[in-house]
Amino acid sequence: MLEVLMLVLAYILGSVSSAILVSRLFKLPDPRSHGSNNPGATNVYRLGGKVPAVLVLVFDILKGTIPVWGAYFLKIEPLMLGLIGVAACLGHMYPLFFSFKGGKAVATAFGTLLPIGLSLGGMLIATWLLIVAITRYSSLAALVTVSLAPIYTWWIKPLYTLPVTFLTVLIIFRHRANITRLMAGEEPKVGAKKKAPE
Ligand code: G3P
Repeated sequence: MLEVLMLVLAYILGSVSSAILVSRLFKLPDPRSHGSNNPGATNVYRLGGKVPAVLVLVFDILKGTIPVWGAYFLKIEPLMLGLIGVAACLGHMYPLFFSFKGGKAVATAFGTLLPIGLSLGGMLIATWLLIVAITRYSSLAALVTVSLAPIYTWWIKPLYTLPVTFLTVLIIFRHRANITRLMAGEEPKVGAKKKAPE
């Protein structure tokens, strides 16, 4: 019963779209209909700069960390911890409060993996930063990082490889439009200036 309650709570917390709420607070354009149309930290950065983007990033990470850590301290068994992490990410991707139209859950998935260990968190951050530094594509960095996440997890805590692999598949699926833009050479780079209107 406690497990079901934690699953539902994780989904509900994941459903709170910080990108939309922070954008409203800062009077920014709605990230669902501007920039990449994605309610996430990268798009809020594009539309409003560093401060709102960092707030979104921190809140989205916590949405993943809090339910998994809470469940861990409630002595919920490992497989269910993995499912609670997936529920938080599904809340972010398909939010109850925003017509089931959410983001890609990169930050929230990262948050769910943090309780596995800081070494895993460090490897994920290092991978993301390295790819962004080389390519300037946030989406490509996310795609490479989530693709490596199951391998890192298998190395550090094999028990969680299956739910992490499931998250990887979900997150890649949510990046369909980014993959199409990357292949067409049309994906905007991080920090790229907007083209002036002709
Ligand atoms: O974490 C989201 C990122 O991978 C892509 O964001 O706004 O460029 O679609 P965006």
